[in-house]
Amino acid sequence: MRTQVGIVGAGPSGLMLSHLLSLAGIESIVIEDRSRSYCENRVRAGLMENWVAQMLIDTGVGERLKREAMVHDGIFLAFNNEAHKLDFTKLIDKHVYIYDQKEVVTDLIAHRLAHGGQILFEVQNVSVHDFAGASGKPTIRFTHQGKAETIECDFIAGCDGFHGICRPSLPEGSWTGYDRVYPFGWLGILSESPPPEKELIYAYHENGFALFSMRGPDLSRLYLQVKPDEDIEAWSEDRIWEELDTRLQGVRPLKRGKILQKGITPMRSYVAEPMQYGRMFLAGDAAHIVPPTGAKGMNLAMADVRVLARAFEAFFRKHETALLERYSTTVLKRVWKGQRFSWWMTQMLHRVHGGEYAAFDMKRQLAELDYVASSEAASTSLAENYAGLPID
Ligand code: FAD
Ligand code: DHB
Repeated sequence: MRTQVGIVGAGPSGLMLSHLLSLAGIESIVIEDRSRSYCENRVRAGLMENWVAQMLIDTGVGERLKREAMVHDGIFLAFNNEAHKLDFTKLIDKHVYIYDQKEVVTDLIAHRLAHGGQILFEVQNVSVHDFAGASGKPTIRFTHQGKAETIECDFIAGCDGFHGICRPSLPEGSWTGYDRVYPFGWLGILSESPPPEKELIYAYHENGFALFSMRGPDLSRLYLQVKPDEDIEAWSEDRIWEELDTRLQGVRPLKRGKILQKGITPMRSYVAEPMQYGRMFLAGDAAHIVPPTGAKGMNLAMADVRVLARAFEAFFRKHETALLERYSTTVLKRVWKGQRFSWWMTQMLHRVHGGEYAAFDMKRQLAELDYVASSEAASTSLAENYAGLPID
């Protein structure tokens, strides 16, 4: 097989890159180690920045989003048994959107396949080769339907998530990983019940953080701060609901419903720098992950591939290499701002139990929440970052 850009991974970054490239007349093949239905049903991100929704609409994959996405004016911060609305529309004249990542993936897969795109699912033994140097001739090797296959390409896009093979294939010493692991995890559930508010509630409580999000008027997506190595079996349905009730006490009543899905995610900040080597370019979670508190992961992934697609377009159309050479520098500026914001939201909203400073930190966090909720300057800063910083 031969293509211009070989893309490893059919998550939001790989699929969006393939879509943007096809609009620019550039060929790509996407390979994915999971099945199509697994990718289309993986419950993850829900909160989409303004410009990402607009990009999906402007590039012809936003029809269902326009019909089904929930448009939010802002968020609530809850602490001391009270909810405080941060109204982004008033503060910065922007909205955010609730539209599940799995719907974005479903829409992009359907669109690519309907427009002649090539996505190979359930591939195995993927490896990447010969991408060193600006004039390398990269190849991707893998097995598909029991047959050994090779893609010869001009570039490889490593869009294979945090546990993929592209980042570890970069030569040792050519990149640095910046890492921060948090002593928290999120237990997330999807429940057949109406959310407690029309918009998201980020709740700080002595027992820990809780987030009340949604996927529809009768479908809630709810999260609890737990220990990162918490055993999901230790959380019966009753215990989950009781803890959600406790952390939302006095703020809003919470309706219970059938739990359709539950899981625990550990929390980490990570950046690999630079995000490129020779003819290999990393994008999305393959290069960086954030703790979910700022809802930045999928949004940063989308920003990477927008910049990368333009750089490929300049290369294939005009033989210009400057944008490709600058890719990592360009996106990392914004990635680090996303990292900072996600870290900041995380440290403000999560309880560190025990330790010398636990009592001090709780008072300090409550003061910070009160400041953010009551100062227009501080609310505006949160709103700007949450709804999405400008993209170059
Ligand atoms: P991925 O979605 O991880 O896609 C990578 C793909 O590569 C996968 O399909 C994987 O199967 C495939 N792959 C892996 N290895 C190989 C291989 N060797 N060969 C071929 N394919 C391979 N982000 C937000 O913006 N907003 C939110 O509200 C939000 N909430 C979140 C809540 C939770 C609980 C979690 C866990 C994450 C959340 N995120 C959120 C983060 C978001 O889900 C990720 O940042 C996003 O999935 C990144 O997209 P990606 O395409 O870069 O990587
Ligand atoms: C969702 C997840 C987040 O991490 C977040 O900050 C907001 C919303 C969600 O899954 O709906």
